[in-house]
Amino acid sequence: MISKGFFITFEGGEGSGKSTLIDQVAETLTARGLNVVKTREPGGTRLGEAIRNLLLSPAADHTIGSQAELLLFLAARSQHIEELIRPSLEVGKVVLCDRFNDSTIAYQGAARNLDTKYVQRLCQMVCSNIEPQLTLFLDVDPKEGLLRSQKLDKEHAVSGKFDRIESEKIEFHERVLGAFRALARKEPFRIYCIDASKSRETVYKEAMRAIDELILLPAKK
Ligand SMILES: Nc1ncnc2c1ncn2[C@@H]1O[C@H](COP(=O)(O)OP(=O)(O)OP(=O)(O)O)[C@@H](O)[C@H]1O
Ligand SMILES: [Mg+2]
Repeated sequence: MISKGFFITFEGGEGSGKSTLIDQVAETLTARGLNVVKTREPGGTRLGEAIRNLLLSPAADHTIGSQAELLLFLAARSQHIEELIRPSLEVGKVVLCDRFNDSTIAYQGAARNLDTKYVQRLCQMVCSNIEPQLTLFLDVDPKEGLLRSQKLDKEHAVSGKFDRIESEKIEFHERVLGAFRALARKEPFRIYCIDASKSRETVYKEAMRAIDELILLPAKK
């Protein structure tokens, strides 16, 4: 792992509050004088944003098989690491990234039924020594998350109106949550689980507690 900067990822299902939290954290850390880079996956580079459009445009636009989907996410990640994440960490910046490998394992592995070990191996290959020191996992019932983002119509996500992945059935989003929880149980030192059904303020305070512990404890780097 690159020793200079801090790499923190934000994970969770649709509408779990990742974007809200990352904005709050970025503002706090910037106000403290830290050099913060806020980015997202897929995205963060010109190529990554172009891939994002392909991946997230509604299902009606084109079909994407599970393997192709996985490889497109990883192509975007590879570019993101080489162009933005690694250079930022090397100069000591704090990189806050909305989604990373855990989302790939949860969505493309568990929810799409690809072999999770195979997905994990490919993620490792793409990332080599780039690993988050801390992952904030926002744990909330997918129905609540989809409702918050107004993406739920009774039991099913509103299809067609939202992006390809958001408009998957509720069962898909429940498999995603189960996979995130399993990852959090497996890696309790990296993945900090936050009850995201709580208020924005409570979620933010919990997140800052974990971040302060990481940033104030050089031994953890
Ligand atoms: N703790 C919270 N309690 C209630 N509402 C929240 C909370 N956190 C965020 N929200 C609201 O829920 C909606 C979705 O939040 P946000 O966009 O941050 O989620 P997200 O995880 O980034 O979603 P997406 O997966 O679509 O990117 C927003 O309207 C936001 O204001
Ligand atoms: Mg978001």
